[in-house]
Amino acid sequence: MFVAMRWIEVSSKLRSTLMFKAVLIGDAAVGKTSIRRKYLGKGFISSHIATIGVDFAKKTVNIDDQLVQIVIWDLAGQEGYGKVRAHYYQGCSALILVYDITNRDSFNNASAWLTESYKHVEEIPPIAVLANKADLRTPENIADLVTSEEGAVFAKALCEKLDVPTLFFETSAKNGENIQKSFTELTRIMIARFEVEQWKKKK
Ligand code: GTP
Repeated sequence: MFVAMRWIEVSSKLRSTLMFKAVLIGDAAVGKTSIRRKYLGKGFISSHIATIGVDFAKKTVNIDDQLVQIVIWDLAGQEGYGKVRAHYYQGCSALILVYDITNRDSFNNASAWLTESYKHVEEIPPIAVLANKADLRTPENIADLVTSEEGAVFAKALCEKLDVPTLFFETSAKNGENIQKSFTELTRIMIARFEVEQWKKKK
């Protein structure tokens, strides 16, 4: 079944196109859909249209001469969708955990999202922690927001505790800050892990 596949090769060119599944998780309204849209080059929507259940999109990119198709699953953040989400974690090659720097609860809930996802994955995949809505930080409100240091400490603790590569970026789906970069770096990690798996199989 598609969702259970960790990766598949989708063409037989000189270097095959790899396909990876990445899953966006985090509280409702933190900006998961907006991040996905920005990464795909689509416009920013300023109103919140809650995702119903799940949504997904594909993008093919060339990273260091390797073609990669990334399938991004966007899971609804609202509590009532827990059962729906459960099916979509399986076989993912990366988790993109999003919180909103203007909403401390979404930062405090970040660990709970990982706990939910780990119930449904065979192996803990690499994680990108995205501290979104960075464009909303101003000199006036800076004291009320989740700081960059808090986010970095959280991501470092995850990396040490779970022993998986963990990236941390402050992002803005509105102005695009670090959106492409975070996906590119995460894809590099997925490619590297794939290559290690292949090498182990050949040994
Ligand atoms: P669910 O589908 O309910 O889980 O929400 P979501 O996490 O997909 O959030 P969504 O992308 O729908 O964004 C929620 C609201 O935040 C919308 O009003 C967006 O316009 C706004 N938003 C998202 N990202 C940013 C950002 O980086 N900066 C600003 N200023 N607003 C953002």
